[in-house]
Amino acid sequence: MKRVIQFATGNVGKHALPLIIERPGLELVGLHAHGPDKVGRDAADICGRSEPTGVIATKDIDALVALGADCVVYTSQAEMRPQQAIEEICRFLRAGTNVVGTSMVWLVAPQHADAWIREPLAAACAEGGTSLYINGVDPGYSGDSLVYTALTLAGRATGITVSEICDYGSYDDAEFTGVSFGFGTTPDHTPIMFAPGVLSSLWGGQVRSLADVLGVTLDEVRESHESWVTPEPIDCTMMSVAPGHVAAVRFAVEGIRDGQPVITMEHVNRLTPITAPDWPYPPDGRLGVHRVVVHGNPGVEINTRLGLDGVDHNDGGVISTAARAVNAIDAVCAAPSGLLSVKDLPAAHADRVMW
Ligand SMILES: NC(=O)c1ccc[n+]([C@@H]2O[C@H](COP(=O)([O-])OP(=O)(O)OC[C@H]3O[C@@H](n4cnc5c(N)ncnc54)[C@H](OP(=O)(O)O)[C@@H]3O)[C@@H](O)[C@H]2O)c1
Repeated sequence: MKRVIQFATGNVGKHALPLIIERPGLELVGLHAHGPDKVGRDAADICGRSEPTGVIATKDIDALVALGADCVVYTSQAEMRPQQAIEEICRFLRAGTNVVGTSMVWLVAPQHADAWIREPLAAACAEGGTSLYINGVDPGYSGDSLVYTALTLAGRATGITVSEICDYGSYDDAEFTGVSFGFGTTPDHTPIMFAPGVLSSLWGGQVRSLADVLGVTLDEVRESHESWVTPEPIDCTMMSVAPGHVAAVRFAVEGIRDGQPVITMEHVNRLTPITAPDWPYPPDGRLGVHRVVVHGNPGVEINTRLGLDGVDHNDGGVISTAARAVNAIDAVCAAPSGLLSVKDLPAAHADRVMW
């Protein structure tokens, strides 16, 4: 039995919580919440379950560290407050509690994260004899697990393209995704995601990591982005967008060899299907796809659809993001100490997903 703390109850965290509560072999022993509307409430109440767990959401990190849990599932918003998040994660790692998470997405490829992120966390792992593993859907699954699976089918790879093509209209996250992607702003505004170097810092690690695995020397890693402005008002769950404002974005981070992109991580994100009609859409009239294409011999394409049987594709995305972390708990607890990437875990790290 693994004793687990859930840290944060936002879009991802509220889906991680029931997985921890319900799954055999995991015991929820602590819950961190930041919002005053959540502190003091039972975990079950926060994630919409009727039977109380007796685990009450708290802001007291010392009390959570003192629980001596096996693992923390850390899904607190961290990219906008990285120093604070690093310190929060380090406190658990130093005290002997492993951490799996979806935040600090630079750490999906930890060997390529900047030293100011990597070093304090690596030192905390060494002090506590613990491990940290960060993953998600993208960055994460589609740029690592899915690519490695596709590459096993390739006789020769001449290029790799990893795409997220997703309609974010039903995603209720104007505060972070909306702001950081620049939805609803005028096209002269530069959102944080498109500030020089940010795309490369978020997705470039996976590009470089793949190049390392393939033994490919890249000349450079290049980033590009484009926004699409709506001529008509748009109304969706994410937000309302007035004419003349941004309602779709696309961006890419490319690993260049001999002047050509050979490893590309790209996104197309729109608010409702009527936006950016000339940009690629998911197949079969769907609203989202995570795709990897390996060009070469024979050529391989894998399309992932998240959310079946009435589950919204954006809900599917955050449920799967939560699952990537929860499903790694056993493997991360068993792994040697340090900053882990997907390559350090067994390919089948999905113990107890079916019960
Ligand atoms: N790689 C991927 O595919 C992927 C996909 C989705 C998300 N993510 C990452 O996963 C993380 C969580 O995403 P999310 O959509 O769940 O985020 P979110 O809903 O925007 O925020 C998560 C929670 O962070 C806490 N929080 C927010 N501001 C805070 C502050 N100033 N101080 C302390 N806590 C604060 C809140 O916790 P409480 O609710 O408990 O009060 C909030 O609900 C993010 O870092 C995101 O980038 C990765």
